[in-house]
Amino acid sequence: MTHPPAQVHVVNHPLVQHKLTLMRRKDASTNTFRTLLNELSMLMAYEVTRDMPTQEIDIETPLERMKSRVIDGKKLVFVSILRAGNGILEGMLSVVPGARVGHVGLYRDPNTLMAVEYYFKMPQDMQERDIVVVDPMLATGNSAIAAVARLKALKPKSIKFVCLLTCPEGVAAMQAAHPDVAIYTAAIDRQLNEHGYILPGLGDAGDRIFGTK
Ligand code: URA
Repeated sequence: MTHPPAQVHVVNHPLVQHKLTLMRRKDASTNTFRTLLNELSMLMAYEVTRDMPTQEIDIETPLERMKSRVIDGKKLVFVSILRAGNGILEGMLSVVPGARVGHVGLYRDPNTLMAVEYYFKMPQDMQERDIVVVDPMLATGNSAIAAVARLKALKPKSIKFVCLLTCPEGVAAMQAAHPDVAIYTAAIDRQLNEHGYILPGLGDAGDRIFGTK
């Protein structure tokens, strides 16, 4: 049986759209860009965890005992695709501080634009965990597709993908390779250029986060 592709969630909340606009501007400083990315990541975390399971625990308010719901943050793993994914981590972790973190190091071969892995470190017991893969830009999709394929081999309970920006080419590639992985993004831009950059985009996310250009 074939399944319809998992959804693409465009988070069009006014706060998300406002912050994204400020980040796109070429005159935004590294500090401004990073601060906005941090805030935006918290808002994206809010969306991507919307259907996270909760469990009831017994607590005592100042007035009486009650049952109330909590999440099991430890079951959640944020997987950062290095290096730009790290820019999203801080915001995500401030909302789910108990989450575990994995890292995948992939670089884009400048000639083929294909992803080449140089680092992979995950928490234990991945088969019990829900994974949220983070990378600000879903452009060609090559890195995201390679990272998700690697993670699927660990048989996690679920995988979702969070980015800030994508484009029709990135969405199509990801959905063709991993139709079961839902994509959360703040916008789907017009197109990819011949160098694998998103247009109109926001430039090189890694350089803008870390001030390396
Ligand atoms: N990676 C980036 O940092 N920016 C793009 O536009 C595409 C990929």
